[in-house]
Amino acid sequence: MKILVTGGAGFIGSHTVVELYQSGFEPIIIDNFSNSEEKVLEGIQSIIGKSVVCYKADCNDAEALRQIFQKEQLAGVIHFAASKAVGESVEKPLMYYENNLGSTVLLLKIMREFGVKNFVFSSSCTVYGQPDSLPVTEATPRQEAASPYGNTKRICEDIIRDVVVSKAGLKAIALRYFNPIGAHESAVIGELPRGVPSNLVPFLTQAAVGLREKLTVFGSDYNTPDGTCIRDFIHVVDLAKAHVKALSLLAGVDTEDYYDVFNVGTGEGVTVLQLIQTFEKVNNLTLNYTIGPRRPGDIEQIYAQVDKSEKVMGWKAEKTLEDSLRDAWRWQQRLSK
Ligand code: UD1
Repeated sequence: MKILVTGGAGFIGSHTVVELYQSGFEPIIIDNFSNSEEKVLEGIQSIIGKSVVCYKADCNDAEALRQIFQKEQLAGVIHFAASKAVGESVEKPLMYYENNLGSTVLLLKIMREFGVKNFVFSSSCTVYGQPDSLPVTEATPRQEAASPYGNTKRICEDIIRDVVVSKAGLKAIALRYFNPIGAHESAVIGELPRGVPSNLVPFLTQAAVGLREKLTVFGSDYNTPDGTCIRDFIHVVDLAKAHVKALSLLAGVDTEDYYDVFNVGTGEGVTVLQLIQTFEKVNNLTLNYTIGPRRPGDIEQIYAQVDKSEKVMGWKAEKTLEDSLRDAWRWQQRLSK
């Protein structure tokens, strides 16, 4: 089964391409390389031992998309391609709405034209905001988005649901990712942040390797056991596997129209300081870090309840935080060689 993977050269996309191959699917990548590197394709190929089909094109380019759909007999689409920097989205909201909403609408239109029915969408736990109770289930009400980026995820979920409800013959799943970290255990693919990373683990590994002077922990006066924020950190390979499960579920659904959302996390909340200590322990090193002020817009704590993903998709995280931080460090060391 050929699956179009938009943003397939990105962090989560590249790991998903590998897992799709290894589960018998035939992924076809489309990526404009605006936030990824073409050498990622070599990494994917070295893991799977085959060449991978990749179209260098933008997901807002209707002509390019139609040509791909015409050429490949696609059984489904996984839509990763999107702009994802929270801060940038506040500065350039129109770019975010145009890019993230436009590509989703266009893909859904073209899927309909070509009779492609299965769609998996990259959503985010950002749609929950700061929930009133933890862990969050899929039934936890979504909250007003704190950024244009977060709003694009919420609106895309609604667009997809509306298309399904319209009886267009679409079967779709939105996966709400918690905090993806780590890298492939081969250390051949991983995260490739451009410029100064804003996410915790890439900044931390760059600090550990000496590319950054030190890591600043944003806030230690939160209402958590050690005062630092709590997140649900999930190994990127586990996350990638959730996409394979989602596609398999969609392929097996015998109704014409189907929409559901799933949390993709470990179910465990970990503080920023716990993560740092685990990183130091598993990699046997001491990290240079300091405590700084809170980062505006951060939520205090969030972690997933993952029972529904296990029950309905048959998916559960298998790797530990230790695995994630070992793999993240091996990847950073390899990058810095
Ligand atoms: C953010 C976005 C989320 C997005 C995700 C992936 C928000 C509210 N959430 O998640 O929508 O899907 O990135 O790109 O913007 N931290 C430090 N020092 C650092 C960096 C981070 O202490 O140098 C802390 C943060 O304050 C936070 C935790 O580490 O408590 C995780 O931060 P980060 O990796 O940026 O992810 P989120 O903010 O959870």
